[in-house]
Order: sequence, then structure tokens, then C-alpha cells
Amino acid sequence: MFKLSGYNFKFCILFQIIFVLFFSISAFAAGEQKRVQKHDWTFAGIFGHYDDAQLQRGFQVYREVCSSCHSMNYVYYRNLAEEGGPGFTVEEVKVIASEDIIIDGPDDYGEMFERPGKPSDTFVSPYANQNEARASNGGAYPPDFSVLAKARSTLRGFPWWFVDLFTGYQEQGVDYIYALLNGYSEPPEDFILQSGMHYNEYYPGNQIAMGQPLYEESVEYADGTVASVEQMAEDVSAFMMWAAEPKLEIRKQMGFKVAIFLFVLAGLLYYSKKKIWARIEH
Ligand code: HEC
Repeated sequence: MFKLSGYNFKFCILFQIIFVLFFSISAFAAGEQKRVQKHDWTFAGIFGHYDDAQLQRGFQVYREVCSSCHSMNYVYYRNLAEEGGPGFTVEEVKVIASEDIIIDGPDDYGEMFERPGKPSDTFVSPYANQNEARASNGGAYPPDFSVLAKARSTLRGFPWWFVDLFTGYQEQGVDYIYALLNGYSEPPEDFILQSGMHYNEYYPGNQIAMGQPLYEESVEYADGTVASVEQMAEDVSAFMMWAAEPKLEIRKQMGFKVAIFLFVLAGLLYYSKKKIWARIEH
């Protein structure tokens, strides 16, 4: 058997420390964007669940502000009434869907036609195709919202990113989006901002083609909540998390049940093993 001598062991530990330090320093040097802080979300942790009222507010922000540029092609209107979602009723969803105009067709004469949306439609897109989206945004493409909260991630500073590797930090994307929406500011004096770009503390490279989308009271919340930039950013980020992971609550509940089942099973197996082996000399 291969055994580590004391010398080799020390060498391994030293190598690991250098390895970890190297990556944490290079991760820090790679971008000048500010580190994203961990935010307190109701859907974090094993008992995580969405806050219906927050998802409804987030939906309002999406609809009134973001949906003029961002599509959400993989989410259906009917999803809004499903369990674990924002908690709209089926009737409310019918009304919400019918407020959007869908291009359908072709009809019997080969023509495309317009009709009000139905719960079985996917969310209407602001642009006909990617080229139109780019042309309207100075060449930059506003990414689709369907899974964006899961498609972004962030590295927290050392030692947290190392801890996150093992503990499974699942709110990275939504923490980043929340920070990004709050991260617009004037660029530092020596910063060269390209034309049509905007300074953001959290965007990699600090130049983003999206102008600041949220200002105080950009929306008037139906439930009377004060619409500060932080509040709207938090609500719309939570809504994006739901869009990306509509089955989060079911997954977490199932995970908890499975953990309890495995715990009980481990106990039973232990006692059966003791009982079976008790009869054998060893
Ligand atoms: C006027 C159009 C416009 C509006 C309104 C808008 N965005 Fe954007 N958004 C863009 C564009 C363009 C990009 C691509 C930026 C780039 O590539 O530099 C973008 C990118 C993003 C990104 C991705 C950033 C990344 O890391 O790649 C997020 C997240 C985002 N927008 C969220 C939002 C939210 C939330 C809202 C509503 C509160 C919103 N946007 C409203 C145009 C818009």
C-alpha cells in the first residue's frame, strides 16, 4: 500500500494551500466588479418557500418594466396559477393573458393574425426575433428571463467561495441579479466608458449595455408596498428565480422527506446488522 511519509504529507498540504490561494487571488484579479453579498431570501435553505405576495409584485415589475426588452419564452401564463407559484387564480390568469396580443396563424388564407393571449400561451415576446432585439438595443441582446436566474453565478470572496463549493450555494444567480439592479452608479473619474454603455459595479468589466431599468417608484404596487429601487429589485429577482425554478418548493419538500427516510432507514439497517451479526462469533 502506498503510504504518505511525513515529508510528503507536509508537501501535499503546502501544495493545497498554494493552490487555493492562487485561485482566490486570480478570481479576485480577473474582474474589478464588486463582490456580491449573500441576500436573505425566503426560498433559501431546506425549508425554503416562495413568498406569494413578493412573486406577484415581482411579476408586476417584470410586466411593467422589464418585459419591454426581455422575453420569457419558456414560461406559460398558466404557470402563474400553479402550486408553488405567485398564487394567481385561474380567472386572474385568464385576464392577465388576454391583456397581451399574440400573433398566431397561419389562418385558412395563409395569413398571420392577432388575438388576445390565452393561459396556454407562452409569455409574449417584445421583439419578433433576436435580430430585432439587438437592433433595438444598440447591438446587445437582452437575454431571455426563463432561466436567467439559474444561468448566472458569482464567486464570493475567499474563504466563502470555498465553503460554497461544499455547502451548495443555490442563490448565486439571484443574488447577482439583485446586486446588478442596485449596482448602477457614476463611473470613477479614470474609467473609460464606451458610448451607449452604462457603469455598473457588479457587471463583469463594469460596462453594461442595459441602462438602469429601475428608479424610485417605477411601478405603483397594487398591494401598497413602497416601490423603492431595492424593493423592486428584490421582488423582480425573486420572480426570476421562480421563473427559472418553478418546482423549487416541491423539490425542497421532497428533499426533506428523503433525508428523514434515509435517516430512519440508516437506523433500521444498523439495528438489523447488530441483530444478525450477534449470533456469529467475531
Ligand atoms: C431598454 C431595454 C431593457 C430593459 C427595460 C431591461 N433590460 Fe435588462 N438587459 C437589456 C440589455 C440590452 C441587456 C444585455 C446587456 C449586455 O449584454 O451588456 C440586458 C441584460 C440584463 C441582465 C443580464 C446581465 C448579465 O449578467 O448578463 C439582467 C439580469 C437583466 N437585464 C435584468 C433586467 C431586469 C430585472 C429588468 C427590469 C427591471 C430589465 N433587465 C429591464 C435591456 C433591458
